[in-house]
Amino acid sequence: MQNVDQRGHWGSKIGFILAAAGSAVGLGNIWRFPYITGENGGAAFVVVYLACVFLIGFPLLINELAIGRASGKDAVGAFRATRPGTPFVITGFLCIACCFLVLTYYGVIAGWTIGYAVASLAKTHIAFEEFAANPVYSIILLGVFILMTVVIVERGIQSGIEKWSKVLMPLLLVMVLAVIVRSVTLPGAWKGIEYYMKPNFSKIHATVVLKALGQAFFSLSVGWGLMITYGSYMEKRQSIVASAFWVVFMDTLVALLGGFMVFPAVFAFGKAPDSGTGLTFITLPSVFEQMPAGALVGFMFFCLLTIAALTSSISMLEVPVSYLVDEYKKPRRIAAWAVGILAFLVGIPSALSSGACKWLTHIKVFGHEGLMDILDFFVGTAVIVLIAFLCSVYVGWVWKPKAAVEEISQGAPGFTKPLIGGITMAHIWVLFVKFICPVVIAIVFLNIFGVSLF
Ligand code: PHE
Repeated sequence: MQNVDQRGHWGSKIGFILAAAGSAVGLGNIWRFPYITGENGGAAFVVVYLACVFLIGFPLLINELAIGRASGKDAVGAFRATRPGTPFVITGFLCIACCFLVLTYYGVIAGWTIGYAVASLAKTHIAFEEFAANPVYSIILLGVFILMTVVIVERGIQSGIEKWSKVLMPLLLVMVLAVIVRSVTLPGAWKGIEYYMKPNFSKIHATVVLKALGQAFFSLSVGWGLMITYGSYMEKRQSIVASAFWVVFMDTLVALLGGFMVFPAVFAFGKAPDSGTGLTFITLPSVFEQMPAGALVGFMFFCLLTIAALTSSISMLEVPVSYLVDEYKKPRRIAAWAVGILAFLVGIPSALSSGACKWLTHIKVFGHEGLMDILDFFVGTAVIVLIAFLCSVYVGWVWKPKAAVEEISQGAPGFTKPLIGGITMAHIWVLFVKFICPVVIAIVFLNIFGVSLF
C-alpha cells in the first residue's frame, strides 16, 4: 500500500524495528565483524566493541531517529525543517553521497556472496582470487544484486521494505543458528570458542579501541542519515528509545553469533583467524567442503549473507530515494530505478578493482590499495565518523537537546521520569550527545588522519 503523497509510514511497530534492524544487520556483522575481531586479537576486542556499541552507538542512534521523526523528512530535509538556514544541511548531503557510494561497492561484495551461494550448491570449488578477478561474474552479480534491491525499494515502505524485512529477518536468525550448531560441534572447535570468549586485555591499545568504534558505526548504520530517514516514517506513539534498544540488541546479537559461526570452524580446520578481509570468502568455503553436508551448509551460509546484505542495501538505496521523493516530488518508482541504475554503473569500477583491472586493483591512496579499499576507508569510515560527529553536535548545540528530548519522550514517557535522585534517562542521554559522543568521535577522527592523542 503506497501513500498518495509517495511518502508512506511503517505499518506496525514490529515492522519498523525489523526494517531498522535489517538495515543494521548486514555484511558488517557476518563478514566485517569476524575478520576485524580476528585481526585484533579476539575476545578482548569483542569487549571493547560492546562498550562502543552501547555507550556511543546507542545514544547516537536515538539521536538520528529523533531528528528524523521530529522533521518527518529525508536526510537533507530533516536539517532544514528542524533548524532552517544552518550549514548543517551539508550533513544531509554527505549522508546521501555516502549511502550511494557505499552501495556501489557493497553491491560488489554482496554479488560475490550470491556467486558463492550458487557455487556451493553446485559443489563447484571456486578460488577466491580467480573468481573476484573475473570481470564478467563480478559485474553481472553486482547487477543482479542491485536489481533485487531496486525491486524491493520501488514498492515503497509498507509493501516493499517492511514486508520483506518481516520475512527475511527471522529467517536469517534461524539460518545463523543452524550454521552455528554445525560449527561448534566440529572436532577442535573449542579452541575457536576460547579465542572468541577468553579476553586477553594486554592486547588492548588505542588503535584497537578506535577500530572497534569504527566497526560499531558501520554495523549499527549510525552516521549515514539512514536512521533519520527510517525515523521519519515512524509514528509518534512508538517509543524511539525502545526501538533503538531492539535494533542495537539484534545487531549485536547477530554480530556475536557471526563470530560463533566463524571462529570455531576456522580453528577446527587450522586456519588463521587474522586472514583479513578474505576470512569469509577464502577460509569458509574450504571449511564447508571438509564438512559433512558441506554443500548445503555453504549454500545456507551464503544465502544468509545475501539476505543480510539485501536488507542493508535496500536501506542504503532508500536514503537517496527518499530525498528525491521528498524534495523533488519524483515518483518513488522512477527515483528507485534511476538511483539503482546509476549505482550499478558507478559500481563497475569497484567490481573491476579486485584483479580484473590492474590499475584499479593497485591504485594507492594513503596506504589503501585498490579502489574498493580506498572507498571503504574514505567514504565508509572517515566521512561516516564525520557525519556522526556533526549529528551529535547539531542536536547537542544547534537544534538543542530540549527539542530532541520533547520529541523522544513522545511515545517514551519514561524518558523524562526520574530514575535515581532526580536524574532522568534524558539527562544521561543529553550528557552523552552534548559531550561524551562528540569528544570520543573527535579523538577517533583525529586518529584516522594520523593524529594520535594517546
Ligand atoms: N550496517 C550495515 C552492515 O552491517 C551496513 C549499512 C551501513 C547499511 C549504512 C545501511 C547503511 O552491513
